[in-house]
Amino acid sequence: METKHWTVSEQSFDKQAMKEAAALLKQGEAVAFPTETVYGLGADATNVQAVRKIFEAKGRPSDNPLIVHVANTNQLEDLVEEVPDVAQKLLEAFSPGPLTLILKSKGAVAPNVSAGLDSIGIRIPSHPVGLRLLEEAAIPIAAPSANISGRPSPTKAEHVVHDLDGRIAGIMDGGPTGIGLESTVLDCTEAVPVILRPGGVTAEAIQKVIGTVMIDPGLAVEQKEKPKAPGMKYTHYAPEAPLYLVEDNMQQQADKLTKAGENVGIIATEELAETLDGERIQICGTRKDLATVAEHLYDALRHFKKSDVSVILCESFPKQDVGAAIMNRLEKAATGSM
Ligand code: TXA
Ligand code: MG
Repeated sequence: METKHWTVSEQSFDKQAMKEAAALLKQGEAVAFPTETVYGLGADATNVQAVRKIFEAKGRPSDNPLIVHVANTNQLEDLVEEVPDVAQKLLEAFSPGPLTLILKSKGAVAPNVSAGLDSIGIRIPSHPVGLRLLEEAAIPIAAPSANISGRPSPTKAEHVVHDLDGRIAGIMDGGPTGIGLESTVLDCTEAVPVILRPGGVTAEAIQKVIGTVMIDPGLAVEQKEKPKAPGMKYTHYAPEAPLYLVEDNMQQQADKLTKAGENVGIIATEELAETLDGERIQICGTRKDLATVAEHLYDALRHFKKSDVSVILCESFPKQDVGAAIMNRLEKAATGSM
């Protein structure tokens, strides 16, 4: 399939590009577009065949439901049974923005969007390009991250091109995404909302608005095995080489592996990198501002190629504020820690 490419800047919207992309979406095609978190792969959420194209292009398992993106709260009415008070408050505080609310579905979207659940995830993204496209299309758009399943989510159009060029109808390049990690997924179908996926809007910020929020106990990672041979089964958000999280003594850990014949790549903040010796160091933001780590993390995970490194070591972070989302993704991506 020939993939159409548009480059759209936040300053001067290319009206023609928006029209073309929105027309393809309305015709039931899958189109990638920027959001403030990561690039999404969108399709008409009411069209079962269109939604199927998302799953096929990504190689995504069909039991994983998709988030439905809308341009404004008016569009919610057709999609959800009710907007509970807490959800209303959160929409006022954080929407448009990196927050997905799970609400009771009216059943208006195609069955393959919600994987058989009677709930629906709704998000209004704040990226001006993504938001403009949603306005132009004026239909609910189902959109997972625009990557091949299992790989790090795309934070630049080139990541999408790398994974999906030739497999989807269009890719709209709106520059790097900004936040860099996916939205917070918050289940609002229970009396006390539950964070199902930590993300751009932190638990601390949500608490300030609604008082209490719970965290899905399923998010606690099981104690992973100590590193064995590199090349163990790759996981979610996985880079090309096995990834290990390093709590301290990065230099010693790297030296030990190098001595054992490994080609070591390191992902580190500026502060740590300054203290390190080594040829393959990829900087991922600064330790004093973890939002910069969120912004650059997926790009850093995509940086090292199989041909260059046999193992990747990555700095660890405290699990507070945005650090919770960063560590959630890193622990999923990692083979182990040391
Ligand atoms: O920032 C984001 O959320 C990005 C951009 C493109 O908006 N999208 C994204 O989508 O990360 P995806 O498909 O990669 O992740 C969607 C997450 C999954 O963990 C899925 O299980 C959960 O949301 N989800 C969707 N609908 C749900 C539902 N009804 N109940 C529970 N979880 C749901
Ligand atoms: Mg994803």
